[in-house]
Amino acid sequence: MTDLRKVVFPVAGMGTRFLPATKATPKEMLPILDKPLIQYGVEEALSAGMKDVIMVTGRGKRAIEDHFDISVELEANLRSAGKGDLYEQVSQVARMANIAYIRQKEPKGLGHAVLCARDWVGDECFGVSLADELMVSEKSALSQLRDLHEKTGASVVGLVRVPADKVSRYGIVAAHDEDGLLRIDRLVEKPAIADAPSDMALMGRYIFTPRLFDYLEKQTPGSLSEIQLTDAMDGLAKEEPMYGVILDGARFDAGNPVGFLQANIALGLNHPDYAEALKQFIRTLPI
Ligand code: UTP
Repeated sequence: MTDLRKVVFPVAGMGTRFLPATKATPKEMLPILDKPLIQYGVEEALSAGMKDVIMVTGRGKRAIEDHFDISVELEANLRSAGKGDLYEQVSQVARMANIAYIRQKEPKGLGHAVLCARDWVGDECFGVSLADELMVSEKSALSQLRDLHEKTGASVVGLVRVPADKVSRYGIVAAHDEDGLLRIDRLVEKPAIADAPSDMALMGRYIFTPRLFDYLEKQTPGSLSEIQLTDAMDGLAKEEPMYGVILDGARFDAGNPVGFLQANIALGLNHPDYAEALKQFIRTLPI
């Protein structure tokens, strides 16, 4: 097993698709059932053996730091109310992961946010995870990527197939078969439908070699004056092998209200405590 321990969570975006909810609350703190999105993300990283976590934060993201702090006050209150078990549940993730924070001073794009983590990552392979892309699967998405990274030592990206008319919303890859593996040839950010090289879209889970940083450093701002991760990945894929994994599982774009509602309903219908009441309620709806 390679020594893949580090994972970067870029959480400095402005969350404009979820305003006004995200005016003072980070979108990564929006809850799916009883847990904020970022906690699902960190749990997924832990399940893939990545315990060293860095959050690239921006303005108004203090709630994320508070969420992962050990709260002495909450612990004392819950314990004196005989709810010690509940406290263990709440604090478990914070105890298991080593979480550090770094500030992206201006929201100059996802690529720039990842570049901010360069000194912390150093000369190692590392994961990147976008917590608002919620993946629900038997084997976690980052574990699926890790398996292929262990085999190849190369960069590996998570992919989902999207309907042909939706390709212009995503980073899309061109790939070919290489001994049963999906070798990425190039990547295009939000292509026009006619220019899309496939229907395979990036969905917020990546493992990179540290060489990625050289490409991020060289980037001049792309569309919307942001430094695009996809453009740097395109340079990297042309220089060294990069593979794709079509991820097993359900994927929710919880950074927009419809995807967020879908995630809550889907997870609620699978939750032992909530499923029955939720089903009963849905049956009463005039749909
Ligand atoms: P999004 O494209 O979802 O942007 O960013 P956003 O600002 O968060 O949300 P909308 O589109 O305005 O609603 C993808 C990921 O990159 C991070 C975001 O936090 C999100 O996890 N990001 C984006 C940064 O960390 N910094 C940036 O400058 C931009």
